[in-house]
Amino acid sequence: MNAVTHVSPGLWRRPGDRAADYTDRDYWTDVARTAERGGFDAVFFADVRGIYDVFDGAREPAIRRAVQTPSNDPRFLIPAMAEATDDLGFAVTRSTTYNQPYELAREFSTLDHLTDGRVAFNIVTSYLDSAARNLGVGQRLDHDDRYDRADEFMDVCYALWEESWDDDAVVRDPDTDTYTNPEGVHTIDHDGEWFTVEGPHGCEPSPQRTPFLYQAGASDRGREFAAGNAEAVFCSYPTRAGVRDYVEDMRERAESHGRDPDAVGFYPGMVTIVGETEELAEAKYDHYRDIIDVEAVLALLSGFMDMDLSALDPDQRVEHIETEAMQGAVNAFTKADPDRDWTVAEMARFAGLGSTSPVVVGTPEQVADELEAWYRELPIAGFNVKEVARPDSIEDFVSFVVPELRERGLLDASEGDTLRERVTDGGPRLPNDHPARR
Ligand SMILES: Cc1cc2nc3c(=O)[nH]c(=O)nc-3n(C[C@H](O)[C@H](O)[C@H](O)COP(=O)(O)O)c2cc1C
Repeated sequence: MNAVTHVSPGLWRRPGDRAADYTDRDYWTDVARTAERGGFDAVFFADVRGIYDVFDGAREPAIRRAVQTPSNDPRFLIPAMAEATDDLGFAVTRSTTYNQPYELAREFSTLDHLTDGRVAFNIVTSYLDSAARNLGVGQRLDHDDRYDRADEFMDVCYALWEESWDDDAVVRDPDTDTYTNPEGVHTIDHDGEWFTVEGPHGCEPSPQRTPFLYQAGASDRGREFAAGNAEAVFCSYPTRAGVRDYVEDMRERAESHGRDPDAVGFYPGMVTIVGETEELAEAKYDHYRDIIDVEAVLALLSGFMDMDLSALDPDQRVEHIETEAMQGAVNAFTKADPDRDWTVAEMARFAGLGSTSPVVVGTPEQVADELEAWYRELPIAGFNVKEVARPDSIEDFVSFVVPELRERGLLDASEGDTLRERVTDGGPRLPNDHPARR
């Protein structure tokens, strides 16, 4: 996140930690260069637009402890980071619940032009009630209604990005005083339940037209949405079994949407803590764990789950909870690891380093072994390597783990100009079996 803390509350207190440099443009251009050097396809920015005020029914704990607040808007980092790199992609989280599709389509077309086709849209429906109170809605929409709105939102965006401007509409011909041939530009005349958009799209076609699409739906409704839209899917489960169940289910769902399941990439979240020796890695892990701010983690999880965890006994077992917020966050603990009972305190200690993702600790060889085992065993395309300590998480990964992965032939150089070409086997535009193309 373009914030002090994303999913490792308290680590900003480490001596020398750079979390507080998030307001500094040089920090982000350093991150971009490091990620590009390490062969990452993209840097992913999460985003929320409310405050974590569920824990203890108050906003003070989250404010005091920098729980995803303060945070700046991630969009404005992208041109600077693009300027510092040649190939790196940038995935930006934006909400279908609190935006208008016409505006959002224009934002992404602009970023796609400015990055030469290196931008991605992480589509979220948002879970914080506080965001609804900030954004003119008053009260958060119900979980499934948010996805209904998202479906229509994407229909409008696809029409603007894919259909509104013909490929040959822009002629830039001074002799006929014609920049754009008006016959090649079409209104979309959308009149639906949530949106009325006449069009045409305000921007001329960008290299990818539709930005590369990420999504992370985890509930039944969220999975349906992801299966019908996402080209890359994030998931976050503490175990391989959890990821396997998720990916198998999602591949079936993608097929039922008429898509080639192999064309959807799955990226489980992973935290890596690496040292030159096992002892150094363990010492780093212990240091991080000692400095985790448990109350801040509970404030974060309370927001994810929309459930005040301050009211629970720390030794209480976490049962399956139905929530209107982020069902996936609860299920990750209660369903994905059937062999384990989680108490509130255990869940908080685990989630303090990367929320619901596994933590792999070891030498470069050991970390690479674990990544390789996941990659060989599961139908996944790669990993979402989560940042918990700044700048150690990314710098250690690139300095220690990347050379090991390269030596094993597990990190090929991606080819192509646009992010879509670098991540998939296809061209710069959405593939023909994507629902947007129909
Ligand atoms: C890696 C990852 C990153 C996510 N980033 C965001 C985010 O930035 N903003 C947000 O509102 N939700 C984010 N989510 C939440 C998902 O969009 C989704 O709401 C969540 O997985 C629960 O799914 P559900 O709403 O279908 O229950 C993220 C989820 C994952 C796994």
